[in-house]
Amino acid sequence: MTAYSFLSLALLVPAGFAVAACSDCGARMVSVAQEKARESRDLVDAPGTLRMHAPAARFFRTNGDVRRFKATVGFDPAIYTLKRKWGPTHIAATKMGFKVYADGRLVADAGIMRPGDGTKTIEADVSGARMIALESVDGGYWLGTPQLLALWQDVRFEGKDGVVAVEEDTSGAETPQFGILTPPDDPEPRLNGTWTYGVRPGKPILHRIAATGKAPLALSVVGALPKGLAFDARSRLLTGSIAERGDHKVVFAASNACGRATRTLTIRVGDTLCLTPPMGWNSWNAYECKVSDKIVRETAAAFVEKGLADHGWTYVNIDGGWQAFEKQVARNEDGTIRPNERFPDMKALGDHLHSFGFKFGIYSSPGPRTCTRQEGSYGHEAQDVETWVAWGVDFIKYDWCFYRDILKKETEGRKPTDADRIKPFRQLYDELLRQPRDLVYSFCGGGVSLKGAEANGSNLQRIWGDLKDGWGCVLAAARSAARHRLNAHPGFWIDPDMLVVGRVCTGVLGDHDTLLTPNEQYAHISMWAILNAPLLIACQMNVIDDFTVKLLVNPEVIDVDQDVAEAPGEIVVSTNDDLVFAKKLCDGSTAICAVNLCPFKRRVTVNFKDAGLSGTVRLRDLWRRKDIGTFQDTFTVELPPHAPLFVRCCK
Ligand code: GLA
Repeated sequence: MTAYSFLSLALLVPAGFAVAACSDCGARMVSVAQEKARESRDLVDAPGTLRMHAPAARFFRTNGDVRRFKATVGFDPAIYTLKRKWGPTHIAATKMGFKVYADGRLVADAGIMRPGDGTKTIEADVSGARMIALESVDGGYWLGTPQLLALWQDVRFEGKDGVVAVEEDTSGAETPQFGILTPPDDPEPRLNGTWTYGVRPGKPILHRIAATGKAPLALSVVGALPKGLAFDARSRLLTGSIAERGDHKVVFAASNACGRATRTLTIRVGDTLCLTPPMGWNSWNAYECKVSDKIVRETAAAFVEKGLADHGWTYVNIDGGWQAFEKQVARNEDGTIRPNERFPDMKALGDHLHSFGFKFGIYSSPGPRTCTRQEGSYGHEAQDVETWVAWGVDFIKYDWCFYRDILKKETEGRKPTDADRIKPFRQLYDELLRQPRDLVYSFCGGGVSLKGAEANGSNLQRIWGDLKDGWGCVLAAARSAARHRLNAHPGFWIDPDMLVVGRVCTGVLGDHDTLLTPNEQYAHISMWAILNAPLLIACQMNVIDDFTVKLLVNPEVIDVDQDVAEAPGEIVVSTNDDLVFAKKLCDGSTAICAVNLCPFKRRVTVNFKDAGLSGTVRLRDLWRRKDIGTFQDTFTVELPPHAPLFVRCCK
């Protein structure tokens, strides 16, 4: 414990914060002059200041003799030095909040502030409180910086006769973290992952059957396979093609010494791909532009070795960073695109991924340059699609980036319409439709309407700037995805961006372990699952630790993500303290995800009626894979800060 008679120390509290590097994330532009003016309005770091990252909280114990709390709050002007790296746009988009709690009750909230907003006084009646918590809230965009951002100045705990001594509780007792929750795989056979596969007539099918259970585990097809398909039990790969439109069912069995399980795969031959949210990996938030052939191969190897392949993780997607860099030769004389020296043979890489049954994803822009100023597909759309197809590509993320310059020229003197924005995405879609293989199509940026995207080939629609490993960013992206939930359906998924867990590489911090706490990572995965979000892991798979693996191989959590019978989860409660999502599952049960938004542990009560349930409800804890019991009307549980309760409710 540290004693304060006023407060003076500047302890650094672990935290999260970063930049939206998205080309089109809607951040406000601010001139340098404006920025200077703003800087002068923010707090000066004077002695006697409490400095914190956001999000973070600090806890103070009292003898019950404090009556009033008072402080002046604002941004640390150090934020302005970040402009060297990221420019003022992202600084302007950064938001922060300040809250005070007395014995777990919110007693003051300064609201959300931006750099340049100056200072605010925050004060509250805290009479009799034994624990006062000061929270700096990450308001949505964060800056990936080890610098301090939130300042509390002139902090005063006042009693009857003036300033009162308080003790800071740095024991961590208020902020426990979940450890590994997912139990080891069951010894009994279990068939995992996705069980609906969309493919166009006559186009190649490649599907790895995901199964777990004690070895040796034998996989087989029950009955006859549809004409045109073959199943290799050793590699677990289903291959071939089906010409005839409609649903084709294949029953798979997995058996071992502990038992036998069967599950039916529906192959829907028609015009729609991506019938369930894709599960896989994306290189961007893991490596940014450092991605290479070696890294991609190591990722595929980790998918197999760490058991992710047995849980349905399939896509291995290279994001920005594979094309030639600015000063290199970007295309051959005939115009074909050249990968940079880190990718010696893309076709061989595609074959390698396919040999495990994985899907190969790639990234480009309709503009002349991608967001990292590498070669885009502008003017070479047909040629690039053919090249990717020759490499065996199965997934393309098409990112607006420098198409903004083209749009500007094309729409000079008028306001761009949705049709103007959709045009380059549609152009690529027409090329994709001409190909002998299917490519899942992911739209990124450009500000196209969801309806427009859906009608013009998008399978995944980004609705958010770049997700960085900050709690405020994760919450804001989840809320945004929930707002758009009714637009999602098989073939078209709302994409709040990749999973920022494990070791990542984001923004000014470079390589680092995710800044999300363990609890926040559980909440992140739970929210993405209940929202039917694409699950694309942005983590350095070659150094993945056990904690992160276990976050990703929980079959009951994955089942919620892949359960697409009804619309994605809806936010049914949203208060200062709680965020609760609910979603109907195809077996008639309901998934509930309740997140403790407070910066300390507390008892959280879930009212079943908020999730459309009444009477007696049986609960199963999805992370721990354990039945909890039967409850009437409500369920109360102690949740650590920012941790979720993720349950399946059956009548
Ligand atoms: C944009 C996208 C990111 C990533 C990078 C690559 O910022 O939003 O997801 O693709 O470009 O440059």
